[in-house]
Amino acid sequence: MPNRLAADGNDYADGVGLVSPSNGADMMVSALLGFLFPPRHAGFRMLEPDRIRLPASLSRVEYHATIDSTNDAARRRAAELPRDVGLLIVAEEQTAGRGRGANRWWTGAGSLAFSVLFDPSRYGIAVRYASMVPLAAAIAVVDVVTQHLPGPAIGIRWPNDVYIGERKLAGVLVEGLPDGRQILGLGCNVNNPLTSAPPEVSAIVVSLIDELGGRLDRTEFLSELLSALDASLTRLGENFADVGRLADSLCLQRERVLNVQVGEERVTGICTGIADDGALKLDTPTGPRTLYSGVMLKI
Ligand code: BTN
Repeated sequence: MPNRLAADGNDYADGVGLVSPSNGADMMVSALLGFLFPPRHAGFRMLEPDRIRLPASLSRVEYHATIDSTNDAARRRAAELPRDVGLLIVAEEQTAGRGRGANRWWTGAGSLAFSVLFDPSRYGIAVRYASMVPLAAAIAVVDVVTQHLPGPAIGIRWPNDVYIGERKLAGVLVEGLPDGRQILGLGCNVNNPLTSAPPEVSAIVVSLIDELGGRLDRTEFLSELLSALDASLTRLGENFADVGRLADSLCLQRERVLNVQVGEERVTGICTGIADDGALKLDTPTGPRTLYSGVMLKI
């Protein structure tokens, strides 16, 4: 089945048909994209979809200049795709980017926002460990960012955030479909300086361009992320406990007092790490607790 690539601001234009990302049709796509999108736009370099390296699990790419939310677009597309088709949707800009719960996600120009529609069973991920996919994705982000920015300050905040020190670098939003497929959305601040962010955002986030003092090649960074994500999901399918242990070793909340909303209950305790099965471990006044889901509240 040919890949399809939407190169306009609509949900899914007819776009340009690709036979395979690595055959001669790429040239046509490059030329057309070069015409539609000059390589630089508003002071930053656009993604180059024909240069994205896809792991074997992904067979289609959609590229959008503007879209509401790549997760929402993936959900719409899922209805028409067979479950063995892995899809990547990447956008320069989201007008309605979503975070967990009711949170919005700011997609600054030069950041990276994408979603992957995939079947966890293809990786051998059992249904009971599918909830560890956000942790596996966060580990992949840490793996890649560490190659560019080595340092102990980068790590994970359960359940799905990547932080550098006290500031958020990336967030993961995984949504399940009734048929077991998942939509894994990932937003990462790459080439978007925080001077361009709304004040309420710039106070709490960090961007790689500010940390590195220069831009990254976002197309290459995306390819590295997709490869690391593929490896991390493979690891989850082979041995979930390896992912749990890695997440534990990267946990930035250890020894901190955390306040978590779990359904109607508010649980407060000292974080003792992340369990092999991805649960958050807390020492509470009533004894040890392991939480499998929850919303982190401010203390
Ligand atoms: C969070 O931190 O709460 C999760 C943020 C996830 C943001 C990404 S950006 C790409 C994808 N599309 C969305 O609307 N959200 C996710």
